[in-house]
Amino acid sequence: MSTTLRETITALLPEIAALRHELHQHPEIRFEERWTSDRIARFLEDAGLSCTRGWARGTGIVAEIGPMENGVVALRADMDALEIQEETGHPYASRIPGRMHACGHDGHTAILCGVAKALALRAELLRGGVRFLFQPAEEIAGGGKDMVAEGAVDGVGAVFALHAWPGIPVGNVGIRAGCAMASAEFFRIEVAGKGGHGATPASCIDPVVVAAHIITALQTIVSRERPPWEAGVVTIGRVDAGSASNIIPDRAILEGTLRALDAAQRAEMVAALRRIAACTAEAFRARAEVFVSETGYPPLHNNPACVALAHEAVTAAFGPEAAHAVDHPHMTAEDFAYYLEKTPGAFLFLGNDPPDATDTPPLHSPRFDFNDAALAVGIETLASIAVRFHEQGRARTTAS
Ligand code: NI
Repeated sequence: MSTTLRETITALLPEIAALRHELHQHPEIRFEERWTSDRIARFLEDAGLSCTRGWARGTGIVAEIGPMENGVVALRADMDALEIQEETGHPYASRIPGRMHACGHDGHTAILCGVAKALALRAELLRGGVRFLFQPAEEIAGGGKDMVAEGAVDGVGAVFALHAWPGIPVGNVGIRAGCAMASAEFFRIEVAGKGGHGATPASCIDPVVVAAHIITALQTIVSRERPPWEAGVVTIGRVDAGSASNIIPDRAILEGTLRALDAAQRAEMVAALRRIAACTAEAFRARAEVFVSETGYPPLHNNPACVALAHEAVTAAFGPEAAHAVDHPHMTAEDFAYYLEKTPGAFLFLGNDPPDATDTPPLHSPRFDFNDAALAVGIETLASIAVRFHEQGRARTTAS
């Protein structure tokens, strides 16, 4: 089976690589993926799939193939780019200033198009239905939450996705059961003091000094309040205060991100953040207001049975050495976590490094690029998972 499926996929690769380059040239950010959405819809319709459009505030697409009455497995790709000026120098580099596919979502989208076309050509392999989810706004805005709220995984037995991953060699697929990625909270702390002349601190309340104490004290959330065997992160990424070297300002602003591995830890860390910021400010006669984003992503938990299915698919297709054990959760976050809150599934890490690579650009770098050599691996992995899901009778649907 996999040989013939591989032959089908291999024949599609030049077209899928060209599509990937086309997507790379047209990066669009959260909920603005109109060109991208049109291009994907055209590809799917040319491949013989019918799709519904307008998901997730407009640009999301859902397509289906196979006998849906026998159960449904869903596969998801994210379509959005980032606000980064590209520095790869590739001939297919971004044509839009200040916008770039620096997280490999062009590759994920091209892979899912490749899976859709391969399975459309080999529909006889499918004993059940496959739903393809093309979602906008994975970065920051949580388009996946909209997709789930609109019913994208209703009636679905399992949902799978993958992400290009630097640090894993191309040809390998990183797999991890349980928590694979952290939650992400974005927060802002506004410290209100009392401004004045830089030479008269006694008649002021210096919010810069207070902010400095808060920055330091927040590091004790992880180092002093959490168990040492638990992973968590508090990072202040932005500090903004003052206008001149001899003026004490009225206010200081801190912005940062907080990462945790489960819901209880996440809630406790947020509570500690609020307490430490407010009480530290109070100790110095200032006030701190803490704003925590309501769009923070939950932790991402892979279902063990779905991970086992993915592991079988990868080892059957590429050999046992291709299944790369991911030995700890990544503290990055993914809005695929919303799908996994609703439906069992697994999120896989697709090797992106060239074989001899020593120092590859990280995700979100202006020099990052999806590796075209990973297209075939990504397509065959997801297509094999879909076929195996139905072969193994793991379908759990509202119809069954
Ligand atoms: Ni990404």
